[in-house]
Amino acid sequence: MAEDLQVASGTKEEQYLQLIPQIEAIIQGEPDLIANLGNIAAALKEQFGWLWIGFYLVKSVPHADGEELVLGPFQGPLACTRIRKGKGVCGSAWAQATTLIVPDVEQFPGHIACSSLSRSEIVVPIVRNGQVLGVLDADSTELNTYDETDQRFLEQILSLIQF
Ligand code: SME
Repeated sequence: MAEDLQVASGTKEEQYLQLIPQIEAIIQGEPDLIANLGNIAAALKEQFGWLWIGFYLVKSVPHADGEELVLGPFQGPLACTRIRKGKGVCGSAWAQATTLIVPDVEQFPGHIACSSLSRSEIVVPIVRNGQVLGVLDADSTELNTYDETDQRFLEQILSLIQF
């Protein structure tokens, strides 16, 4: 059943604290991964209004690396469909299995500019049993949008997802 999101106001922390129970309620009982990733992207877009928010999933491909990130559910402008391991912010977060906060994308060597409007970015890997299964990527039109608060709450949101 579709539900309306109650968009929260207040500090960033207050917004996440009101958003997360809603995300839990939306994905609870729904086993389909793509459906849940789609609604999480929509909820984050509606709450924060970022330029781009979405997922890339690790998929098997027939080339030397054997795997790459492939575009999944997202909200925002058209995006690059495939990213190799170690490439761009997404491929680096995958390779390092760690969250990357980029205050100014022009200062990140190898940043992949899917949209020229993107100024700052956070990429959070989805890790299960030590394996990166995909990443959450958020892009902002402003510099310095993302910080440790986003990291903490976005990692918490990703921990809710059943893979
Ligand atoms: N900027 C990302 C590419 C994905 S888009 O921003 C949606 C990167 O450098 O990996």
